Amino acid sequence: MLLQAVNLSRSFGRDDILRDICLDLAPGQSLAITGPSGSGKSTLLSLLGLLLEPTSGEVLFEGKTTRTLSDDQRSRLRNRSFGFIFQNPQLIGSLSVLHNVLVPARLARKRGLEGEARRLLVTLGLSHRLEHLPHQLSVGQKRRVAVARALLLEPVVVFADEPTNDLDAERAGQLGELLYQLPGQGRALVLVTHDRGLVGRADHTVDLSEARA
Ligand SMILES: Nc1ncnc2c1ncn2[C@@H]1O[C@H](COP(=O)(O)OP(=O)(O)O)[C@@H](O)[C@H]1O
Ligand SMILES: [Mg+2]
Repeated sequence: MLLQAVNLSRSFGRDDILRDICLDLAPGQSLAITGPSGSGKSTLLSLLGLLLEPTSGEVLFEGKTTRTLSDDQRSRLRNRSFGFIFQNPQLIGSLSVLHNVLVPARLARKRGLEGEARRLLVTLGLSHRLEHLPHQLSVGQKRRVAVARALLLEPVVVFADEPTNDLDAERAGQLGELLYQLPGQGRALVLVTHDRGLVGRADHTVDLSEARA
């Protein structure tokens, strides 16, 4: 198994947001997380992506617990093996679109990825925006830059939090196609979405609607 949740629970103060979530994700599989606003979807994504500590339970990566990893090991794992597409794209305001996409390569000290960054941006319809700064982009364009950045290092797991929000139907469809190519490449996709088309294509779904009853 690539990624597993074992009785994963998380509280904030007295609020039990997630309780005893269990799931297994093999290479080449996709998972859709659904539920109303405030049901814990982003929290679950953060737990699985090792951005947030569970209150109890654990996440296993490639069969091994992640509980005992140091902060450094955890960061390295996230940088090398995971790609994140957050709800808020969090681009660096002083860097061009192209250089924002190249940030993970810099962190991983990998060179020679400029061609790949350009290719991804062209695929995402941003060929005419490579030298723009984030403030010159629409919300949907920023989101697509974040997608390119998340895919650059060919992560084995891609986490996407409502990636098609703020996109028109055509762009949303293209992004869905791009994301669903990942499982075909032996990688895993974890998606928070309300888009029924995207949910319907996933191998597994976790519906948090009734989790807090
Ligand atoms: N860091 C935090 N501190 C306190 N409460 C939080 C924190 N993060 C999320 N929550 C609460 O947890 C619940 C679930 O949030 P979230 O996972 O963002 O939901 P969703 O993504 O499904 O809209 C919400 O009630 C939210 O206010
Ligand atoms: Mg959310």
